[in-house]
Amino acid sequence: ANNSQGLEGFPKYRIANINQLNSSCPVYFFSYPLTDEPCFLVDFSKLNNMKDVEFKNPYYNQFRINAQFKNVVGVGPKRSICAFSAVCVHLGCQLPAQALVPSSSDPGLNPSTSVLHCPCHGSMYQLDQGGVVVGGPAPRPLPMVLLEYDESSGDIYAIGNNAPYFSEAVPRRRPKDNLIYDPRYSYSLPTNPACVRV
Ligand code: FES
Repeated sequence: ANNSQGLEGFPKYRIANINQLNSSCPVYFFSYPLTDEPCFLVDFSKLNNMKDVEFKNPYYNQFRINAQFKNVVGVGPKRSICAFSAVCVHLGCQLPAQALVPSSSDPGLNPSTSVLHCPCHGSMYQLDQGGVVVGGPAPRPLPMVLLEYDESSGDIYAIGNNAPYFSEAVPRRRPKDNLIYDPRYSYSLPTNPACVRV
């Protein structure tokens, strides 16, 4: 396999080895495709005991990159790992997926409902249904990072994003050439293992 080329011009990027995800924390942060774009892996087997995760790709039919991803399936030994952008598609706040909260009405990630709640204006994304919006002003689902898993090595790769910049006509070369970037916010990656129980 070519390790530098992902789908539709995205890089193929090694996020982590499965052995690096051995803490009890269900999320693991990384940047993709550019260094100021926080994303996170979520292992549903740790979040809410889901295995063999599979759900409809909310952006199927909207972008060419999704041609082979009508459904998104979890990767890893339990087929339970997916990945999302950590930038809210409303106005660009960073989503605190590392904050495990007891209720979906709290900003953070609620393990029992898989709802990720944005602290800025209350957008709520249902992660175990592909990041669809279940509350608040977000106008579209939370973008997902498309993954590939190498069973022989245990490496997890990012190979693309299911909602590429929301316009394939706009080329993007620098970190700030991002239609969802909002200069009022700055992003920083939490150190892994990142979970904080709130
Ligand atoms: Fe997330 Fe407004 S930026 S709800």
